[in-house]
Parts: sequence; structure tokens; C-alpha cells
Amino acid sequence: MSKILVTGATGNLGKLTIQHLRSKIDVSNIAALVRDESKATELKEMGVEIRLGNYDDLNSLVNAFKGIDKLFFVSASDVEKRLPQHKNVMEAVQQSNIKHVVYTSFVRKNETDSSPIAALGKAHIYTDAFLQSSGKTYTILRHTLYMEFAPYFMGDKVVENQMVYLPSGAGKVAFLLRSEMAEIAANVLTSEGHENKIYNISGEEAFSYADIARMISEITGKEIKFVSPPVVKFIQTLKKSGVPEESIKMSAGFAQAIEQGEFDAPNPDISKLLGRKPIPLKAFLKQVYG
Ligand SMILES: NC(=O)c1ccc[n+]([C@@H]2O[C@H](COP(=O)([O-])OP(=O)(O)OC[C@H]3O[C@@H](n4cnc5c(N)ncnc54)[C@H](OP(=O)(O)O)[C@@H]3O)[C@@H](O)[C@H]2O)c1
Repeated sequence: MSKILVTGATGNLGKLTIQHLRSKIDVSNIAALVRDESKATELKEMGVEIRLGNYDDLNSLVNAFKGIDKLFFVSASDVEKRLPQHKNVMEAVQQSNIKHVVYTSFVRKNETDSSPIAALGKAHIYTDAFLQSSGKTYTILRHTLYMEFAPYFMGDKVVENQMVYLPSGAGKVAFLLRSEMAEIAANVLTSEGHENKIYNISGEEAFSYADIARMISEITGKEIKFVSPPVVKFIQTLKKSGVPEESIKMSAGFAQAIEQGEFDAPNPDISKLLGRKPIPLKAFLKQVYG
């Protein structure tokens, strides 16, 4: 059995993936890349080998990748530093004997600077292209938006205000749970036939925020309106309500990307990778608003 190294192992996706891997392969074949050993107690208790490494430090990655056959590279979380960090990871991969890289990319349509989320995309576009010309085998998992994040863009007063207020127009997202993305990653890492494949890791069906408002209405029994204001008005309204600048920027950027169809990329075959039907959006919303 080959040795798999999971990066981002102290984060949500990496940790969940390791949990699924443990139910499929012997734990002696799983290693975790960790930048801060004090966060690795739980992983150590699971019996997972800890490899210290930081995306900012090429030498630490070169050392951590020794004896690894497969890398599960969870994209870095610091958007400002992500491109140079991913360059380090790719350089360390080239210097290593890693045979196969499974990478968490993102779904997209517009790869130019005109995309409202161009800054988020750069490192993914670079890494996808690098892997495809690296000479290593790869599987690129193009993640949609996490379903867990669907409520985040609407704020926490949807039911109270009886309104979903977001400049996402008629744009749709094929949400999928992050926990199911982790399950898919574990399946891909432990089965054959995924070499040099690019998959959209997204739900079977795409929904707009108008659809979401309708679903929350059905769940709560209250009429929830969907209002899609011009983006400038959206920003002004959130500023007046005291929402932090960073959150406004994030929500506005994603809402515009949604409106432009960036995440309208359903994958009707996702159950083949997951091994069952994914949890539908309405069932998730019921957990949150029910
Ligand atoms: N599709 C979506 O909707 C969506 C949403 C948000 C994020 N993402 C992307 O998906 C990734 C995984 O999501 P998540 O929820 O698991 O994120 P997360 O919980 O924030 O985990 C990020 C992981 O990356 C590690 N990390 C960050 N900087 C590092 C560095 N310089 N060197 C080594 N490790 C580093 C973190 O380590 P520490 O524990 O030490 O911080 C943590 O383990 C994110 O990093 C981001 O690229 C996707």
C-alpha cells in the first residue's frame, strides 16, 4: 500500500478526509502535514504520522514529502499568500518521489481578471496547469462552494427579516457539503482509475438564492422574500448595518460570481464518486432553519 500525505490536516477538509481514509486503509499508510505541532494531538491519537511543514518554507516541504507516494494537497487558506505557497508545494512535489497528486481546486468559468473572484482563482489556475504539465499523475477536484457556506452569504437574520438579501440575481450554485467532498477525496485517494482526471466536485443540481428563499419559506412556514439589489446598494446597506468591511467584500464578490454563473456547474455523476446520493440542499437547510 502506498503512503498518503494529507495537507491542511488540522483544518476542516483535511481532518475529515483523514477520518474517512482511516476507515478504508491501515492508519500506518496515512501521514498528515502540520505546520503547528501543538494542533496535532488529535491526529497523533488517531495514530497518524505527523510531518511538520509549512507552505511558506520550501525546505520543510521537501523534507515532509520524503517517502510519500500520494499527496492530497488541500489548497492553502491565506488568499494573499496562496500563489507563492502553492509554487513552493509544486516545487517540492517536483523534487520528491511522489507519484500522484490529488488537488482541491475550484469550479470556474471565467479565468480572466474580470472575474469578481479573480484574486481567489489565481493559485488554483496556476496549480491546475502545473500539475497537468508536471509529469506526475494527478486528479484535480474542482470544488464548488461548500454547502455549509450557503447561509453565510445571507447573514444570520434571514428568518427574522423574512428576506434573503443578496445581489446574486438568477445565478445558481450546485452546492455540495464539505463533509461529502472529504468522503469523495478519500474514495479517490484509495481507488484506481482517477489518474489525470479533472472532476467537478459539485451537487447534482444547481439552485439560485430565490430557490433557497423558497425552501426556507417551506421549512419555516414564514414567507421569505428574495431581493437582489444592485451591488453598490448591497454594499451601502451592509455598511450601514455595521457588517465588517472584509465580510462585505467577500459576500459581494461571491454574489456577483454566483450571478455570473461561476458555480453553476452541477455534476449529475457525483454519486459515482461519493458512492451514494449526496445530501440535498433542502435537507441541509432544514437542519439550519428547521
Ligand atoms: N469551496 C469552498 O467553498 C471553500 C471555502 C473556504 C475555503 N476553501 C478552500 O478549501 C481549503 C480547505 O478548506 P477548510 O475548510 O478545510 O479550511 P481550514 O479549516 O481553514 O483549513 C486550512 C488548513 O490549511 C493549513 N494551512 C494554512 N496555511 C498553511 C501553511 N502556510 N502551511 C501549512 N498548512 C497551512 C491550516 O493549518 P492551521 O490549522 O495551522 O491553520 C489548516 O490545516 C481552504 O484552505 C481553501 O483553500 C474552499
